[in-house]
Amino acid sequence: MPAPIIKSDRITLRQISKSDAESICKHANDKLVSRYMVCLPFPYKIEDAYSWIKNCHRVNRTKSNIMWGIEDNASGIIIGGMGIHHIDYQNKNAETGYWIGRKYWGNGLMTEAIKMVLKYSFKELKLVRVYALCMHKNEASMGVLTKIGFTKEGILRNACFKNKRWYDIHFFGILKDEIKNS
Ligand SMILES: CC(C)(COP(=O)(O)OP(=O)(O)OC[C@H]1O[C@@H](n2cnc3c(N)ncnc32)[C@H](O)[C@@H]1OP(=O)(O)O)[C@@H](O)C(=O)NCCC(=O)NCCS
Repeated sequence: MPAPIIKSDRITLRQISKSDAESICKHANDKLVSRYMVCLPFPYKIEDAYSWIKNCHRVNRTKSNIMWGIEDNASGIIIGGMGIHHIDYQNKNAETGYWIGRKYWGNGLMTEAIKMVLKYSFKELKLVRVYALCMHKNEASMGVLTKIGFTKEGILRNACFKNKRWYDIHFFGILKDEIKNS
């Protein structure tokens, strides 16, 4: 099933397609975007975009993940990615992951996108808890999560290996009624 369309005034979360590959590549091919992302290589090539699109289509046919592109409503192009992963219907938990092109940082767009995914997760998927994992020093990501109402639940030591070194992972979680209005 294609990813469900979720729309706000500024952005639309939607299924990505091959025609989005160039804009995905343009925004993902950035050292600062990939720095704390386990799954984003740098340099990010057009083939990486095609395989990401293929992977999104594959996982969206399963029930355990939903992957969206973030479309900028003004230009109609994909400027980032969002996902809800490892959906555990028995324990009603799932993980969210996200990135957005550097040009768009600092405008509250990711706060908006994560809130859209949380609303979908709590209302439509009936989850009780959503969690997110941030690599040590990813202050921007931890800042967004804290602003939304996530609680830091712990630190997993040396849980991630990237660019030839180990990183601690900061674990954040949010329950249904904890989303802040700001
Ligand atoms: C993390 C990321 C998604 C944030 O996106 P964004 O759209 O710029 O975030 P927002 O504008 O919604 O920021 C919301 C809050 O997060 C915090 N924040 C954002 N960027 C920050 C930064 N560089 N340093 C510290 N705090 C930051 C602030 O509290 C901000 O609220 P404020 O603007 O009222 O001060 C973006 O920087 C990104 O894509 N980074 C690369 C990929 C990545 O690391 N993904 C997460 C993997 S866990």
